Amino acid sequence: MVGLPSNSSQNLQLAKQISSLQLPSLQILPLESSHLPGIMEIDRLCFGGWWNLAHYQWELDHPESHFLVLTIPEISNSEVSNSAMSKIAKINEIAEINEIAEISKAPEISEVFEASDPQANNLVIGVGGFWQILEEAHIHLFAIHPQYQGKGLGKFLLGQLLQLAKELGLERATLEVRESNHQALGLYQKFGFQEAGRRPNYYADNSEAGVILWLNRLQSCEFV
Ligand SMILES: CC(C)(COP(=O)(O)OP(=O)(O)OC[C@H]1O[C@@H](n2cnc3c(N)ncnc32)[C@H](O)[C@@H]1OP(=O)(O)O)[C@@H](O)C(=O)NCCC(=O)NCCS
Repeated sequence: MVGLPSNSSQNLQLAKQISSLQLPSLQILPLESSHLPGIMEIDRLCFGGWWNLAHYQWELDHPESHFLVLTIPEISNSEVSNSAMSKIAKINEIAEINEIAEISKAPEISEVFEASDPQANNLVIGVGGFWQILEEAHIHLFAIHPQYQGKGLGKFLLGQLLQLAKELGLERATLEVRESNHQALGLYQKFGFQEAGRRPNYYADNSEAGVILWLNRLQSCEFV
């Protein structure tokens, strides 16, 4: 589980320093049809094309399906990459970027994530979704664009997704992950997910086992 920062004044200082960098505005948004091409690109790059457009459209139309997307303003393809990556690198110099989930808890840093222009074209760099089944959140999709992985954004987005589940009143979250996916396992374990079992031959492409993870007592967890 992501805990509150141990030293809030230090955290506040970091938040101010990061605000002054004028980061490209990261936004967390509910899924809209305009995000689908970007999400499909992430799906293709991360999962080899797990779902098609019709499936995403189906998700969009179902009230039990909840998606959040992580976006940055689209400047131009090359400028976005260079600008975003160089600014992320600057954050790295100031603070461990793996603290971004904790840093984002400070109220001041929320300015960094505000939309500069809600109508602007946004580049989708992450997506997470779950189905609400009774009091459970079944996370079925979670990915950060490969170009932006390893920068703390997975932690940030997962925190937001679990917070959404909490606000919906859900009690538990679950998902399956490939047993070889150490990155994802590390991320989920960081949030307190625990292994509940394995499904042998769960993945058709290579017969890999799926690790079943659960996070209980969502209502008593702190995510943001
Ligand atoms: C898994 C994924 C979402 C993580 O997102 P990310 O932005 O790269 O992750 P973060 O930078 O926020 O790192 C979060 C945690 O993941 C773990 N992690 C990240 N990279 C790792 C690596 N190379 N090896 C082991 N653990 C790693 C660490 O626990 C890390 O926390 P720390 O930096 O405090 O140690 C991302 O790698 C991804 O999209 N992978 C492809 C799609 C996928 O596998 N999705 C999950 C399907 S269930």
